[in-house]
Amino acid sequence: MTFEGRIRPARPEDKPAIHAIHTAAFGQTAEADLVERLGAEGDLILSLVACTDRPVGHIAFSRLAMSDAPSVGACALAPLAVDPTRQRQGIGSALIKQGLDRLVEQGWDLVLVLGDPNYYGRFGFAAEAAAALRTPYDGPYLQALALSDQGREAQGPVAYAGAFAEVS
Ligand SMILES: CC(C)(COP(=O)(O)OP(=O)(O)OC[C@H]1O[C@@H](n2cnc3c(N)ncnc32)[C@H](O)[C@@H]1OP(=O)(O)O)[C@@H](O)C(=O)NCCC(=O)NCCS
Repeated sequence: MTFEGRIRPARPEDKPAIHAIHTAAFGQTAEADLVERLGAEGDLILSLVACTDRPVGHIAFSRLAMSDAPSVGACALAPLAVDPTRQRQGIGSALIKQGLDRLVEQGWDLVLVLGDPNYYGRFGFAAEAAAALRTPYDGPYLQALALSDQGREAQGPVAYAGAFAEVS
């Protein structure tokens, strides 16, 4: 199903709606609080909302640091949430695709995500692409998508934004 609404950068006034979407989708406030901390600490590099007459979905991308490859522009996709009453209508897919398009336009090299390979695989993410990386989340759910040759060749330790350490 294709999402007919609009996807746009999140604005300061979207904060309560974004918090509510993550809380409802995850059934807890940890992810909603993560978004707020990433924003407050200046680590969000892209934050998009999917809107109908109101925000119904949100995706966040935050900066990663690669000590062995400091020139690689790497970021994490997390968290992603869609209002439970609007799931399975293509909104999550639209947010991911738009997000990736914007990251390519902005010159980012590499995106990491932690999640179900059946879902993220359809957007090109693969666990094999993350094999040369060392992260706190290594395992079958950690997947990567290279957006450039530099991203494809990246290897070594990856540090997440500080807010991730607080997630329960
Ligand atoms: C995951 C989520 C963002 C997907 O958004 P969505 O708008 O429902 O997804 P889309 O409509 O674009 O895609 C739906 C497809 O994804 C699949 N899908 C949805 N949620 C999934 C999940 N958690 N795991 C695996 N597949 C999932 C569905 O099977 C569906 O496929 P189908 O249409 O072929 O049956 C949304 O379900 C959500 O907010 N879930 C709770 C929070 C969450 O788990 N976030 C992701 C953390 S990594």
